[in-house]
Amino acid sequence: MLKAKIISTGSYLPQRRLTNSALERMVDTSDEWITERTGIKERRIISDEQVTSDIAYEASIVALERAGVAAESLELIVLATISGDMPIPATACFLQKKLGAKNAAAFDINAACSGFIYGLSLVSAYVQSGMYKRILLVGTEALSRFTDWEDRNTCVLFGDGAGAVVVEASDYGQCDSGILSVDIHSDGSMSDILNLPGGGSKFPASNDTINNRLHFIKMKGNETFKVAVRTLERLVVDALEKNNLKVSDIALLIPHQANSRIITATANRVGLPMERVMVNLDRCGNTSAASIPIALDEAVTAGRIKQGDYVLLEAFGGGLTWASALLKW
Ligand code: UT7
Repeated sequence: MLKAKIISTGSYLPQRRLTNSALERMVDTSDEWITERTGIKERRIISDEQVTSDIAYEASIVALERAGVAAESLELIVLATISGDMPIPATACFLQKKLGAKNAAAFDINAACSGFIYGLSLVSAYVQSGMYKRILLVGTEALSRFTDWEDRNTCVLFGDGAGAVVVEASDYGQCDSGILSVDIHSDGSMSDILNLPGGGSKFPASNDTINNRLHFIKMKGNETFKVAVRTLERLVVDALEKNNLKVSDIALLIPHQANSRIITATANRVGLPMERVMVNLDRCGNTSAASIPIALDEAVTAGRIKQGDYVLLEAFGGGLTWASALLKW
């Protein structure tokens, strides 16, 4: 039986840093409030010249180089984003061109902050079916371009960045590592608590949508927070049960980096010590679909994941969507 395996990772953070103290000069906020309520100290912002596919490219070339594979050998590029270069075409197609991956099919998926794990479910199924053997999966966001820099409720939260993984087919008989399970969920009845309303068929771009600031991300933060904490605990417990594992078997939990209080609450509720939880939120902010692949790459390069380790990924975001993936490294 074929199984999908992540054979390499890569990530890219733009150079420009936006600190909490810089935000103090932009909106009515404080370093103290942001640090206490979110855990974020700074986030990265793309340069004026960069677009979402550029930073995806930077993360992807690292992952391809580490895998030792040529871009031409990719059969598929799946790109998770909510802040692509343009509505049409898919940002994955811009990335394909930049990489010279001329033999790959390429498309985007939108599952907001759960997008990378949704992508893992897709690439895993493609590999298991035998349809593709070598896939590039990317999470990339330029959220700064969709952030209302006058709204203190949201502008302190988001950051830009990209992460990528190369996924290949491996024979289950010869190797028991890989993507062991992926679970994805949605609840569209709560779509109003986190969205970007302008520019679609409901509110096509017009002077009104611009005047009403509908082209920026809106979030009812406190409502989102409460659902996230409840949902993420269940997600972790379910993933462990499904794979017959205990919390003590997990070498590293890599949660979506939205809020340190959500991350700590989930870890406490399931009984996982914080030493076994990956946190880079303080430096990156919330990078939506890019958050997990960036954190995964940083954990791998820091030597926090060793061969044979069980690694659990979990995310929660707009849709609402939530998802988990269990990997054996
Ligand atoms: O990634 C996708 C999923 N996203 C999430 O999971 C995010 C979930 N939500 C959160 O992380 C938190 O809800 C926030 C960090 C967004 C907000 O924290 P909170 O503890 O839920 O604050 P709140 O929204 O209940 O607001 C508390 C107070 C309000 O003032 P009043 O009404 O009590 O006077 C806000 O106006 O904090 C105020 N406030 C701020 N004050 C200073 C909101 N934003 C700021 C700010 N600086 N930036």
